[in-house]
Amino acid sequence: MNKTIAVIRGDGIGPEIVNEALKVLDKIAEQYGHAFACEDVDMGGVAIDKWGDPLPQAMLDKCLAADSVLLGAVGGPKWEGLPGPQRPEKGLLRLRAGMGLYSNLRPAKLWPQLADASPLKPSIVEKGIDFLVVRELISGIYFGEHKTVEQNGEQVATDVMRYAEHEIERIGRIAFETAMKRRKKVTCVDKANVLDSSRLWRAVLHRVKEDYPEVEYGEMFVDNASMQLVKDPSQFDVIVTGNMFGDILSDEASMLTGTIGMIPSSSLGDGTRGMYEPIHGSAPDIAGQNKANPIGTILSAAMMLKYSFGLDVEAAAIEAAVDKALNDGLRTADCMADGCRLVSCSEMGDAIAARI
Ligand code: IPM
Ligand code: MG
Repeated sequence: MNKTIAVIRGDGIGPEIVNEALKVLDKIAEQYGHAFACEDVDMGGVAIDKWGDPLPQAMLDKCLAADSVLLGAVGGPKWEGLPGPQRPEKGLLRLRAGMGLYSNLRPAKLWPQLADASPLKPSIVEKGIDFLVVRELISGIYFGEHKTVEQNGEQVATDVMRYAEHEIERIGRIAFETAMKRRKKVTCVDKANVLDSSRLWRAVLHRVKEDYPEVEYGEMFVDNASMQLVKDPSQFDVIVTGNMFGDILSDEASMLTGTIGMIPSSSLGDGTRGMYEPIHGSAPDIAGQNKANPIGTILSAAMMLKYSFGLDVEAAAIEAAVDKALNDGLRTADCMADGCRLVSCSEMGDAIAARI
């Protein structure tokens, strides 16, 4: 198989972790007879420094021309003072919207080897943690109107949370379709006791659920959901939610599994072209030190093989290699434990590639 991958190394630890994922993809290409052609794309802080724009049109075009996009992380203190539209994060939001990637899947699954790294009590962890946050990615408060005006001698800021029915319906269908391949349970997380947009979510999902009679459907307010996630995460299978609640809950979910460094994500629209990235940020505090955990990015590459290229066997080979490396006691600093061997970012990448 011949595929082109737009590669966005980004800022902070982005370049280090992406290099390890590319190492693993090279090994897959070699072992299974594929060719992955990588095209470098500048996005985020690095693009601001080079081009004065977090996502120049030419870079978006490169992503649209590729079969898929692999991303490290963007942002950092260097660009924090910039106004909203010029920040690195805006490049990421424009890329998601420009590619039509409305469906963001963020799995929270406990690797048994890392059970001790979970901040939850063993009695809770033992019940199992294996759920998926299905986050709407290109609408809601992230994409509603943002403005700051002067009113009565003070600044007044507004961010609009807006959802149209079709935007809820298409992400709702993804959640139900995904649940059908899992434990057949969907929980809609919202704030329907306060927000109109949440009430519309519920109304639309009530319609969608009629097409999936086998799926057990429930609803939860987001404040309660954030509490239930630490009380008993085993109750969840698929959580479907809006852009901002999904951002917040997926960070919480990842920590339950021990470290945010292990969690991959996929962002897809209507076709097979997607964007794949770890859910953690650019970690400027450890950037350039070869300390970061590359596994979230490596597993994102595995998701890309599976969801965009249909290479299920190759994706499983990457996951098995990660499993072996963890079984062999290799750990990066974020999940280091007694009796394990501390390895650097590049050593972890080498170890996983060697186990494929
Ligand atoms: C994420 C990140 C982004 C988001 C930021 C960097 C804009 O936190 O992917 O979760 O909020 O979507
Ligand atoms: Mg986030």
